[in-house]
Amino acid sequence: MPTLNTTSLKIRDNQLWILDQQALPQRQIWRLADDVESLVEHILTLRVRGAPLIGLSASLLLALLAERGLSQAQLEQALITLRESRPTAVNLMNNLARMQQALLRPDWVNSMMKEALRLLDEDRILCDSIANHGAALVKSGSRLLTHCNTGGLATVGVGTAIGVILRAHQQGKIDNVWVDETRPLLQGGRLTAWELGELGIPYRLICDSMAATLMAQGQVDSIWVGADRIAANGDVANKIGTYSLAVLAHYHHIPFYVAAPHTTVDPQCPNGAAIPIEQRATSEVTGVSGSFGECHWAPQDAQVYNPAFDVTPATLISGWVLDSGVITPQQVQAGFFQPE
Ligand code: MRU
Repeated sequence: MPTLNTTSLKIRDNQLWILDQQALPQRQIWRLADDVESLVEHILTLRVRGAPLIGLSASLLLALLAERGLSQAQLEQALITLRESRPTAVNLMNNLARMQQALLRPDWVNSMMKEALRLLDEDRILCDSIANHGAALVKSGSRLLTHCNTGGLATVGVGTAIGVILRAHQQGKIDNVWVDETRPLLQGGRLTAWELGELGIPYRLICDSMAATLMAQGQVDSIWVGADRIAANGDVANKIGTYSLAVLAHYHHIPFYVAAPHTTVDPQCPNGAAIPIEQRATSEVTGVSGSFGECHWAPQDAQVYNPAFDVTPATLISGWVLDSGVITPQQVQAGFFQPE
């Protein structure tokens, strides 16, 4: 496998390294993801995260394991274990389906390596196309709002929603980006704030609960989020808190856009209710932890509800910005995402 260097994935001496996104922004720590167990652990702890990046890291690891001499049966088992590590995002399943096809070919070691590298190249191209289509919707002097992290940390390209923001910034159209901190795991406060700062994009960090007031004050022109899965009826699963933003946007007549590659679309999933939602540890809600330390504020025995994602109904979405272009609500109603 050739040497590889992206914002959050590296291959050195045939070993996969991931940038620990739990340690950012205070520390930049690269961790080895050299077997299925360690990569699954990194995915579960969100050291590697973002729907596209998870799929790509799993594909690269499989290709490396094939090169290292694992049998087809062992690789098949690795595929199954990796597939279960992130139930909501469909990019992982889609990428692994392609890797499984490669595994069935006579020259499967070479095929798997080529397929994993192809997926990486494709991701960069998909991100660029999304950025171009999305930026065309952004008006000059815009104040945008975004949730969670959808940038170069979550993909190997410019990102999805953040890719749009970057492209619009390059076109001189951004006045300010409101960055939701994104409780409970603070991907906005830790990652998006850091990434926008690195990119030189003007932003202001807010607590999630401040978005309503900003909208009421007329300080938000459009809202941009990513997606973990888009169902056949256009419903979208994304980071918890996305749905509340969509409801608020509807009330305040603010356009609400979802930016994602076509690999996030799941035509076999009829609607949002059929999307499995990952439930996560209570400690994420009773406190917070990272390279800055650990803090628990809730009573020891506090009962907790912690769904990692929510579903935004298609009726609240102004446009689905894919690599192929902007899909309108009318197109979605006419069955754009339905299976062929
Ligand atoms: O739990 P995370 O941090 O992986 O959640 C990320 C999101 O919800 C993103 O919006 C989505 O995965 C798309 S990233 C391009």
